[in-house]
Amino acid sequence: MEKSKFFVTTPVYYVNDIPHIGHTYTTVAADVVARFWKQLGYDARLLTGTDEHGAKIAAAAKNHNKEPKEYADEISAEFKKAWQLLDIDFSRFIRTTDEDHIKVSQDFLQKLYDTGAIDPKPRLYKGLYCIGCEKFLSQNELKDGLCPDHLKPPVEHSEENYYFKLSAYQDRLIELIKNEDGKGIEVQPAKRKHEMLSKLELGLEDISISRANLEWGIPLPFDESHTTYVWIEALINYYTYGSPNKVWPADLHLVGKDIVWFHAVIWPAMLLAIGEQPPKQVFGHGFFTISGQKMSKSLGNVIKPSELVARYGVEGTRYVLLSAFPFGEDGDFSWETFDQLYNSNLANGLGNLVSRVSKLLELNKVTISQDQENIKPSLGLSELYSTLSLDQVLRNISEKVSTLDQKLNEWHPWEIKDPNTSSNWNEIVQGIRQIACDLYPFLPETSTKIRDIFSGPDVKKPEQALFPRLEVSS
Ligand code: MSP
Repeated sequence: MEKSKFFVTTPVYYVNDIPHIGHTYTTVAADVVARFWKQLGYDARLLTGTDEHGAKIAAAAKNHNKEPKEYADEISAEFKKAWQLLDIDFSRFIRTTDEDHIKVSQDFLQKLYDTGAIDPKPRLYKGLYCIGCEKFLSQNELKDGLCPDHLKPPVEHSEENYYFKLSAYQDRLIELIKNEDGKGIEVQPAKRKHEMLSKLELGLEDISISRANLEWGIPLPFDESHTTYVWIEALINYYTYGSPNKVWPADLHLVGKDIVWFHAVIWPAMLLAIGEQPPKQVFGHGFFTISGQKMSKSLGNVIKPSELVARYGVEGTRYVLLSAFPFGEDGDFSWETFDQLYNSNLANGLGNLVSRVSKLLELNKVTISQDQENIKPSLGLSELYSTLSLDQVLRNISEKVSTLDQKLNEWHPWEIKDPNTSSNWNEIVQGIRQIACDLYPFLPETSTKIRDIFSGPDVKKPEQALFPRLEVSS
């Protein structure tokens, strides 16, 4: 029988700057989700990559005295390197400058044009444009005349552009996002869904999809004097991979809360226009602040993935990022709180349990059963993964660790004369094996290590601690 598929994506990240903790958060979460469905036997695919066209990248390249493509090559490689470092098991790392993406985008745009979803003639488009966001902002989105995210005034945009007739899809989008029959688009968490619906109820305007004065982009197939607006083309990356690989529609677009509108409204409208299915789920997760402040280059508080790995290791980083706060909510990063999280849950919690039990088993020459083959992810996990309750999955695991610790404390096998004969070991070892299995998507390497330690019949205490304790100043 053919396996069911599960296709999850991250945003394609802008290459104006190197990866930081925010990009890392989304990508690790997507990897965890893909690994979970793979573990359940699905043909799970994870797509990630970089977004390389548009005014913002052209400007960043110019600042570095480089050609856009040359600059994009360098930064894109940094992203790929970071994801390899973090053990991200992507099916493809896509770049929007890849040949097949350019071709698929042009075919897509031609289809939009042929079906009449794009106005046949360009018209004057005026608006306030924030290059940092690569999007138009309305007057009431500005704060003291500035883009609230980039703290810069938007530029006046006034040129002849092609229009996509977004307004024609208002009713269908409302119905899809309400999703009363479960066949529409599941926008999560609920507050993002409500946000989308209330914005949709206000009405939709047609949007500009081309640039007359920007060279760094994909030429429109029906008018090569224009390049495609970067967002329109970037969204198509999912289809560039998904369609030929026969995994369309995407099961989950995992994005930050800042770009839910593009994924839940504009992108589905484009797909409907060419007769394709919209994505099944769009999840907008929360944002990190850094010690209470917005993360920004000018504040100098940007946290790089390599810094996290230097302190917590690859697996420790994956763990602390996703356990710190509920996935749909905003949360704060500080080295102090993350150190504490690492020490209490990994060094003292899981690491200590494994070390304690393996030591006792080795010391007492206990032989354990080898039947760990039929251990499956715990019941109820699919439900938690479907709602991206990743922090909850980790909390459940931590509770299991504490329960086993408690059992050991009550039983104190170190005081028993012949602990080898006790059936209690079985319960403890099976418990640890179950923990290893449930942890696999988050900590693939540690999970395998634990599995190997307890594969039976003889147990040897590992020479090194799984998670060395961090020295923290108190
Ligand atoms: N290129 C667009 C996406 C196009 S997708 C078709 C883009 N790129 S980005 O480089 O700015 O990345 C934005 C994403 O990075 C957010 O949606 C989120 O996934 C992640 N984050 C960026 N800053 C973040 C935080 N401070 N906290 C958590 N995640 C954040 O937008």
